Order: sequence, then C-alpha cells, then structure tokens
Amino acid sequence: MFKRFKITVIGSGATGATTAHLLALKELGDVVLVDVVEGIPQGKALDMWESGPIERFSVNLTGTNQYDETAGSDVIVVTAGMPRKPGMSRDDLLKTNADIVYQVVEKSSRLSPEAAIVVLSNPADVMAYVAQKASNFPPQRVMGQAGVLDSARFRAFLAAALKVSPKDVTAFVMGGHGDAMVPLVRYSSAGGIPVEALLSKQVLDDIVARTRTGGGEVLSLMKVSAYYAPGSSLAEMVKAVLFDERRILPTISYLNGEYGERDLYVGVPAILGGNGVEKVLEIDLTAEERQAFQISVKSVRDPLSLLTY
Ligand code: APR
Repeated sequence: MFKRFKITVIGSGATGATTAHLLALKELGDVVLVDVVEGIPQGKALDMWESGPIERFSVNLTGTNQYDETAGSDVIVVTAGMPRKPGMSRDDLLKTNADIVYQVVEKSSRLSPEAAIVVLSNPADVMAYVAQKASNFPPQRVMGQAGVLDSARFRAFLAAALKVSPKDVTAFVMGGHGDAMVPLVRYSSAGGIPVEALLSKQVLDDIVARTRTGGGEVLSLMKVSAYYAPGSSLAEMVKAVLFDERRILPTISYLNGEYGERDLYVGVPAILGGNGVEKVLEIDLTAEERQAFQISVKSVRDPLSLLTY
C-alpha cells in the first residue's frame, strides 16, 4: 500500500506556518503543525486546509499542542524558538532556544524514529548539534537550514545585478549562519558562466556584503525576522529528502573530519537525499576562503562550548 508522506513542523510562528503552507501548496505530504500556544497551530492549520479546494491540493493539515499526532513522521522541521527580549543577552537566548530545541526534538523523535530532522531555530548551526544530541539519531539524519537561504539571497542579488532570471544563477555560501558566513564568489555562475567574468569586483564585493547582512536587512525593515525565503528554503530541503532527490544544497551538516573539523555542525555543500546528508562535498578553498571558513567555524564552536550537551 502506498501512503502519503507525513511532515511535522514544530513552531507555528511566522516561519513554521509559512513552511507548512508551502509544503501543502507543493503537495509534499500531510502536515502536522505543533506549538506550545493553544489554538495557534490548530487555527493556522485549519485556515490553510480551507484553502485546499481553491489551491487544489489534496494533502491534509492539522494543528496540535501534543506530540501524539506527530507519530510516524518522515521529516520533522524545527522552527520553535524565542525572539530576543529586552535585557536578554545572546548567550541567554542561546540557552533558552537550546532548551526548547532539545525538549521538542526529544519528544518528537521518540515518536518518529525513522524521521529526518531539519532545524531552523537560531543559531541554526548550534541548534542542529543540540537536535542530534536530543534525538540520538545518526548525525546524517539531522541537519540545519541556513545555506539554502543565504545562497538564495546571494543568487537573487547576483541575478538583479546581471538583469537575468534568478533561475539561471547558481551560487553558494559556506560556514555558520551569521555575519561570518562565507559567500563563495569563485563557485558562483550564471548560465554556467563564472560571475567573476560578468560583474566587476566592486559589484561582487557589495553583493557579498549584502548577502552577509541579508537577514538584518529584512529585520530592520519589518522589525521581525524574515520568514518567506526561510520557509521556501525549508520546503526545498524537505523535498530533497522525501523524494531522495540527491540535490547539492548548502546544508548545516555534521562534520567528522571533513574540512579538518570534527564533532561540529556547520554549513557546507552536501548531497541531500533519502538518508539525509548523503555526502559532504569537500571543495578546494583558497587560503583566504579557508581562513574565512575557519573564522566562521569559530563563531559556531564558541557558543557550543557554553552548552552542556
Ligand atoms: N514548543 C513548540 N513551540 C514553541 C516552543 C516549544 N517549546 N517554544 C516556542 N515555540 C513557538 C512559539 O510559540 C512561536 O509560535 O515557536 C514559534 C516561533 O515563532 P516566531 O516567534 O514567529 O519566530 P520565527 O520568525 O518563526 O522564527 C523561528 O527561527 O530565526 C529563528 O530565532 C528564530 O528561533 C526562531 C525561529
């Protein structure tokens, strides 16, 4: 008997709800939205489900404050977390979100022991590590989202500068999800043509700087974090896993010696398929790129050392 895929989205805030909506529109599977706030996941799921006859999707959407209904999921997406409150340091936020992620992953992973887990909650590189510890899943089945979003921003800016469709622009970003991320101009192309042959160094430098602060740019305009492009990024990763697409996507992956790093989750190019991270791709880096990557790695290791997982 064939069955539909089942996707649990934990956290029904801006990003979780946007992701659930996209998963339904793309008919990737039945979606269960979870949140601690009573009524919100139920109401949002009902509202989205009622768009089904218009949007013509056949999948089901439900909302809950319990985990029983998430049992048997194929993918668990984690967007639960808290925004920083006045008087709260980054370290306080780190511990708060780590506790939330640990708790929600511990509960959900027990009920879906074969699932892949995709973490978005920030800081995503650190939270992917926490999610692996909480689930005790093979590290390949736990991953984080950052690079698909950072690369999408990079690609959008390149496409605008080139006045071409973003469909034809390939680019990627390595490293932690933060200001120290490493957009790799050398590995970026439009229609297969290296962007360095098409745009001046000044324009490329400006695009790299804008990519690094892309999240902040949206935040400063609408006073809350971005959620449309993050939702699209999560849906793309979920699809790659569910449909065993073997996409090459920048993914927060577990490193066990790759790039000279061990016991760490950080953004690297990876093949995403039915087993999660099928393979981390080790690409050649110049001395300058390697140094930038190492600075970015440090920005992930330092907060990790504050946690006891
Ligand atoms: N279990 C389930 N849901 C939770 C829990 C928990 N223990 N704690 C918080 N949540 C929910 C909140 O109730 C809220 O609905 O997580 C949701 C987060 O949604 P938003 O505040 O709208 O945040 P969003 O913009 O979606 O970002 C989600 O991504 O960028 C990061 O730091 C950000 O960690 C945050 C996450």
